[in-house]
Amino acid sequence: MDKLLIEGGRRLCGEVRISGAKNAALPILAATLLSEAPVAVGNIPHLRDITTMLELLGGMGVKFLVDEKMVIEADASHIHSPLAPYELVKTMRASILVLGPLLTRFGEAVVSLPGGCAIGARPVDLHLKGLSAMGADIRVENGYIHASAKRLKGSRLVLDQVTVTGTENLLMAAVLAQGKTTIENAAREPEVTDLALFLERLGAKIQGIGTDVLEIEGVTSLGKPGLYYEVQPDRIETGTYLTAAAITQGQVKTTRTRPDLLDSVLDKLNQAGAEIETGSDWIELNMPDRPRAVSLRTAPYPAFPTDMQAQLMALNGIAQGVGIITETIFENRFMHVLELRRLGADISIEGNTAICRGVETLQGAPIMATDLRASASLVLAALAAQGETIVDRIYHIDRGYEQIEEKLTQLGAVIRRVA
Ligand code: UD1
Repeated sequence: MDKLLIEGGRRLCGEVRISGAKNAALPILAATLLSEAPVAVGNIPHLRDITTMLELLGGMGVKFLVDEKMVIEADASHIHSPLAPYELVKTMRASILVLGPLLTRFGEAVVSLPGGCAIGARPVDLHLKGLSAMGADIRVENGYIHASAKRLKGSRLVLDQVTVTGTENLLMAAVLAQGKTTIENAAREPEVTDLALFLERLGAKIQGIGTDVLEIEGVTSLGKPGLYYEVQPDRIETGTYLTAAAITQGQVKTTRTRPDLLDSVLDKLNQAGAEIETGSDWIELNMPDRPRAVSLRTAPYPAFPTDMQAQLMALNGIAQGVGIITETIFENRFMHVLELRRLGADISIEGNTAICRGVETLQGAPIMATDLRASASLVLAALAAQGETIVDRIYHIDRGYEQIEEKLTQLGAVIRRVA
């Protein structure tokens, strides 16, 4: 199993180019199922989760052409099987995103139930409740969701919790439903907006994009010949590299990104003492002194993202003062804390709150990644630690960070992958 070996204690300096957003590319690829004409999607990151989504869609009969720039042309004019098998769904929960498009375009979907995962129970009840309200017949049998409907009917859906993939699934289902659907308490995450903009380009009629009330007027078919869409930059990857600069007291410019998607993260990095400059598509961070600990609470967009919580915890690990972090989205998302402690961090947990007393230096040690963002926080801590750290089970990081060793090496880190 691959590991990352990191020699810490180096200031990161330089420029890093941000990849396309994984969590926008996944629903957009799933949404190509809705299009009768082939559609090309660019700025797709080269990641394991993307490969899994292509395998999933390919297994249904979607045809792909991939060019040297990773522009993917998807042709879903015909599919032969509306099935998302357990073997793929178990490796990526976001596979559930095919449910809405399959059902609304082809009238049928058979999708394995995603299991629990490392960061909590993560049910899909709100996805199923919404589709039932739109008239779908839904049975769960032998670990599979069987959904069918002649044509979904527009409906008023009020989500009792903000769910990102839930909103995306229902939005994709609604665009081909009969009549008007309203999704209230919809997730406002930028990745939902990117999906909605893509659907509009396909010919969908959507009002309220970027707000928590989406109004969708169903149409009978979608797709325009020659359509090309570019996925937005990854705000979480951007935030992770900026935090890498902050934790090593370095200076890093992230390029091909969007500062407007990172307000709450930049605000916290600023409170930590970082000097931040932005342009239309870049963000530069300089950390002149030892960072100050920050307190934060994760919550749906535009508040602080849960996907950046672990990285800020690593930053607090070496900061001056005490930082208090409360996780409100997932109930079991502090697994990185045990590993950060192995590096010498002083963090205690009370329920969904972690209290971190910053220490002057962390010390390298063998540690283990448990999930995607946890692994990013361990890499950040290792970059700041004295001596050598080996991060095991690094496959988690390949699900969400394109070429992480290359990008960090370019910034001056000493990092290499070992078997
Ligand atoms: C998405 C992101 C993930 C991010 C998360 C929160 C993708 C592929 N993944 O995950 O990186 O951490 O949003 O920003 O985009 N819930 C229910 N019932 C449901 C659905 C969700 O109770 O039917 C709960 C979940 O258990 C969780 C909360 O709602 O406590 C938010 O989850 P959700 O927004 O759905 O997360 P994902 O879409 O899975």
